[in-house]
Amino acid sequence: MPGKRPACRIIVLISGGGSNLQALIDNLHDGELATIIAVVSNNPDAYGLQRAAAAGIATATLDHRHYPSRDAYDQQLMQLIDSYQPDLLLLAGFMRILSDPLVNHYHGRMINIHPSLLPKYRGLHTHQRAIEAGDREAGCSVHFVTPQLDSGPLIIQARVPLYRDDDAATLAARVLKEEHRIYPAAARWFAAGRLQLSAGIAMLDGHPIYPSLN
Ligand code: GRF
Repeated sequence: MPGKRPACRIIVLISGGGSNLQALIDNLHDGELATIIAVVSNNPDAYGLQRAAAAGIATATLDHRHYPSRDAYDQQLMQLIDSYQPDLLLLAGFMRILSDPLVNHYHGRMINIHPSLLPKYRGLHTHQRAIEAGDREAGCSVHFVTPQLDSGPLIIQARVPLYRDDDAATLAARVLKEEHRIYPAAARWFAAGRLQLSAGIAMLDGHPIYPSLN
């Protein structure tokens, strides 16, 4: 009998409310395909830590304010993450710029969700920027993490309409609903062995997902 694929061991990194974490807990964390083995936060007050604890998931806090430099923090973070031996890292509102050594260490096994239609609006305040630009649509993107901020190979995007009377809060709520749909879907592809980063291109079932952008 062929051996069963072991559940993909996942660490989720958060800084805040953790609504994406909740979507991952509800739609990914089944112990068969995937197990969230730990949730790590740089912010001890992140509400997402309570969501993890309520789901019986281990939590760890590494407060960046206690470290003299980004490199020192990232080294400690890497040690902590590696102690869990994860297969996949999911950034879910982790509000830290990661140093190149850390990003390279997890090459091909670190994924992020960003609240814009990348390559538009890398960085912060994405919804306000889309509104000010007069865009008629907005959305979110899941991508592999590479050293350039919010620039890694795209895995999946979702689009929503942007209405004239939207403000950043109404738009964020509409986009978040889509984030909660596409992030678990992408993570499930990875957990099932269907999604890989190959020569800088995200591949699903052996085919480039966004050939024209890569
Ligand atoms: C999301 O919009 C995510 O795309 C961005 O930060 C926000 C986190 O929200 N990176 P939550 O903590 O998952 O509710």
